[in-house]
Amino acid sequence: MVAEVELFLWVIYPYVALTVFIVGLILRYDKDPWGWTSKSSQILERRLLMWGSIMFHWGFIFVFIGHIMGLLIPVSFYKSMGVSFSSYHIIAFYGGALAGVISVLGLFVLLARRLLNGKVKATSGIDDYFTLALLLFVMLSGLLNTLGYSLLIGEYDYRSTIGVYIRSILTFRPDIPIIATAPLTYQLHTLLGLLFFAALPFTRLVHIFSLPLPYLWRRNIVYRSISRSS
Ligand code: HEM
Repeated sequence: MVAEVELFLWVIYPYVALTVFIVGLILRYDKDPWGWTSKSSQILERRLLMWGSIMFHWGFIFVFIGHIMGLLIPVSFYKSMGVSFSSYHIIAFYGGALAGVISVLGLFVLLARRLLNGKVKATSGIDDYFTLALLLFVMLSGLLNTLGYSLLIGEYDYRSTIGVYIRSILTFRPDIPIIATAPLTYQLHTLLGLLFFAALPFTRLVHIFSLPLPYLWRRNIVYRSISRSS
């Protein structure tokens, strides 16, 4: 029975989540191109949005870079660069904790704004609350490891277990025994992280894939007001 549960959690569920992520994004882009938006509510309220959004997005960018560094780049690479276990963990701990806390504080500001500002509340739907709640759960479970586990129990070398497992999934050689050895809180965060990917195509988070890069090289557009006298 344990073997079946592990097979479901660490092989079937991850591949279903990643398939829903990829196929969902393609279908959403194809079927609902005009709905591919961050659904900005800046016009309704600016001040709280500015603080919440800047904190959330900058925190998120550094959390994302941290995940690439810890999960996709093998420990052997760092060893070859002369980065020791303790130096890596000091950087990951302080960098990750700072980025995670800033990002979560930003999320709380965004959630409070949605609940307390009448205009924003009136235009909010269940999907807006779902997206914020999902992000909160995923990020708080991440911080539970970075801050909670590291401070209360001790440094955990997730690069040699969670990192190896994630790469085993991406290379279609799922390594159940390695993820089964990880602490429960790390396993929980991994499962929630996968849920984030499965849910993403159905939320406004699709705007992550629409970085307005052409703004960097396109020609300026000059806006002029229309003169009433002419
Ligand atoms: C399957 C996907 C994911 C895996 C395997 C994963 C794994 C991890 C690991 C190993 C840590 C480090 C814990 C420590 O420092 O001891 C972490 C932290 C964290 N994760 Fe994830 N994560 C995933 C997805 C996500 C997603 C999608 C988000 C955000 C939406 C997220 C947000 C965080 C945050 C905020 C932290 C704490 C700050 C930090 O250390 O970067 N994670 N995650």
